[in-house]
Amino acid sequence: MEHSPPRPDFRRLLPRFTGRLHDPRTATAIGRWLGAAFAVCLVTGVVSHYLQHPPGALVNVLPSRPVWGYRLSQGLHVASGIAAIPLLLAKLWTVYPRLFVWPPVTSVRHGLERISVGLLVAASVFEVFSGLLNTVQWYPWPFSFVPVHFAVAWVLAGSVLLHVAVKYPLIASHWRVDSPGTLALPAGDGPDRRSLLRGVTAAVGAVTVVTVGQSFTPLGRLDLLAPRHPGHGPQGLPVNRTAAAAGALGVDTAVWRLAVTGPRPYELTLDELRALPQTDAELPIACVEGWSKSAHWSGVRIHDLLALAGAPPGAGLRVVSLEHRGAYRVMEMGREYARDPLTLLALRLNGAVLTPDHGFPARIIAPNRPGVLQTKWVTRLEVL
Ligand code: HEM
Repeated sequence: MEHSPPRPDFRRLLPRFTGRLHDPRTATAIGRWLGAAFAVCLVTGVVSHYLQHPPGALVNVLPSRPVWGYRLSQGLHVASGIAAIPLLLAKLWTVYPRLFVWPPVTSVRHGLERISVGLLVAASVFEVFSGLLNTVQWYPWPFSFVPVHFAVAWVLAGSVLLHVAVKYPLIASHWRVDSPGTLALPAGDGPDRRSLLRGVTAAVGAVTVVTVGQSFTPLGRLDLLAPRHPGHGPQGLPVNRTAAAAGALGVDTAVWRLAVTGPRPYELTLDELRALPQTDAELPIACVEGWSKSAHWSGVRIHDLLALAGAPPGAGLRVVSLEHRGAYRVMEMGREYARDPLTLLALRLNGAVLTPDHGFPARIIAPNRPGVLQTKWVTRLEVL
């Protein structure tokens, strides 16, 4: 009688995991916080995206209040994204033994579920690390950050929903420490898990405390790891794009004019602009990369400049900068911003004339607006 050779048993080659913390209760406990951090990232990311790149229908309805709106939402976006890093690492550590389950795929349905888990992990890792690199303005990839980060956020949202739906029975039976599924775990498991969860909480607390001061200024002194300190920079305010980088150095005030186009176009010299009624406003600069700081601005109301050009009520505005390069050289502003009495063509910052890096001779400052749209080195306003 002929015997076929014995089939290799791959199971024996795979590592065996005896640690009790790679379990569904730990995955649920960490998953809840990770899900919450990603939910905050998604909501605030959508707010940021539409304030920065409003589709046509939204341009004139985006609100210019509250003045601190963008500051709060972008501060939360970056803080929850940073907090998600230790949570993601802990979650992946908890579940990684499942990579070695044999056989890896048991059916077409199971295969599709495995692909969705791969997508979930890839999208999560991509979102948190691309976001983190963006905060230090490092872009080591060939694509444009904003559209890709935005698109992958939706892939991530979809794959988290699918993941939670697939794992729902496990999640429900391990939701609480005294849920029926959790009680079935070996005795003595509780203290180990509590230590792990305390460690993860401490890591989340630590990365938050040493970075959140970049936008939450009462904790500014603890801001040790964030790329920007809100108090460092000319006139007490950080600068992302210098005049040298933008090619806007050495503006000659003898030739500089502010041109305003509209039904009654006109031009103003810097002295004429300074002679117009000046308005003071306390408004934050809130950068998309996460830092923000409130400052004292003074200048001429945009609304008054548009009225002088005969702009109809409710007109929008296009602002053109002197800078030679840059995606935000030309910026458009919807009706709510253009008519807000706090939207200024600022000439002074914190009691002194703007420095070149802050946009000398004139820059936009408006409430509830991403920093990249607070155009510096303004040379022309066009009534829309
Ligand atoms: C938000 C990003 C998340 C990522 C990247 C993630 C990642 C993963 C991965 C890779 C697995 C292993 C899947 C497998 O091989 O079957 C897993 C399992 C699991 N996840 Fe998540 N997860 C996330 C969110 C959540 C949330 C929000 C919850 C619940 C509140 C959750 C609860 C679970 C549970 C219960 C398991 C099963 C653990 C086991 O079978 O031992 N996850 N997760």
